[in-house]
Amino acid sequence: MSIIQLDHVSVTFKRKKAADVQAVQDVTLHIEKGDIYGIVGFSGAGKSTLVRTINLLQKPTAGDVVVGGVDFVKDGKQVISGKDLQARRRKIGMIFQQFNLLNETTVIENIAFALKHSDLSDDELEEKCHKLLKLVDLEDKANSYPAQLSGGQQQRVAIARALANDPEILLSDEATSALDPQTTIQILDLLKKLNRELGLTIVLITHEMDAVKKIANKVAVMENGRVVENGNLRDVFLAPKAELTQKFVGGSLAVVDTLKSLNISLAENEALYQLVYSLNNVAKSIIIELYREVGVEASMLYGNVEVLADEPVGTLLVTVKGDADKQKATLKFLNDEGVTVTELDERGNRL
Ligand SMILES: Nc1ncnc2c1ncn2[C@@H]1O[C@H](COP(=O)(O)OP(=O)(O)O)[C@@H](O)[C@H]1O
Ligand SMILES: [Mg+2]
Repeated sequence: MSIIQLDHVSVTFKRKKAADVQAVQDVTLHIEKGDIYGIVGFSGAGKSTLVRTINLLQKPTAGDVVVGGVDFVKDGKQVISGKDLQARRRKIGMIFQQFNLLNETTVIENIAFALKHSDLSDDELEEKCHKLLKLVDLEDKANSYPAQLSGGQQQRVAIARALANDPEILLSDEATSALDPQTTIQILDLLKKLNRELGLTIVLITHEMDAVKKIANKVAVMENGRVVENGNLRDVFLAPKAELTQKFVGGSLAVVDTLKSLNISLAENEALYQLVYSLNNVAKSIIIELYREVGVEASMLYGNVEVLADEPVGTLLVTVKGDADKQKATLKFLNDEGVTVTELDERGNRL
């Protein structure tokens, strides 16, 4: 069972003097334990509203929400409340663009605040807070006030506070959007570390595809309240289907652009393939091996390397001459080598 299951979730905001806003429309999303699930889309797409249905800060108007195997919403009806909901919510941390720290209290008090319901002794509480500060690499700032910290440090405090109750899930709503690029990278690295070391499941909402590319393993693209495309980062990134996704991923769009500018025409016994492969797995030259093993000549039209979730991924665009048997052997060889092959037409459309 997925740790977060949203099934046919919709959120409609009723307005008195204007048309209703359908902020989220029929979204089905299953997030597995240990995922860093990126949700990307432009402002107003419904990302925040959707993610708030996971901890019921936003009640859906339709659909089912199941978190950690516990029913939250069934058929648009909330089926958890009071102490049960409070307890479950503590297992879902959340961080925001604006940090939302208490400015009149110190860093350590900000963190302790999230534990005020617990029955820890004062000593245990202090120890827990210091452990959390260490986790986010801010041990020396325990007695500082938020205003004395940089944006990145403030977000670290917010992360420590979000982790105070040992959550299984962290919801991150544009957590790096107010930070400069260098600080953004540091915060993303920290989230990745927490994911790896604590097994934390992270839902990463952002309008920046680069953030998703850096740490997510899955991604959903939202537009007008709907998920228009979702799946493994690699698949979505390297072979985007929806027009909006193509806009977001940019990188592999270059393949289509290249083809348009090359204006090629394929001969009858010629096929055009996009090869995508992990550089870690394929050290040798695919094209040379292809010639040696299968006896077909591939001409390279385009080559590119992207870094996805810390892993370099290569893309090649090649044409291969040969009859149907040779093409079949080519596909088999490439598949066996762990290369993802997509046959394209002359304009770059998938066949
Ligand atoms: N409380 C609300 N009342 C009315 N409309 C809202 C409310 N919250 C969000 N919306 C509308 O819902 C849509 C989605 O908003 P939001 O979820 O914040 O998108 P995103 O996070 O992708 O920018 C927008 O059109 C927004 O104006
Ligand atoms: Mg938002």
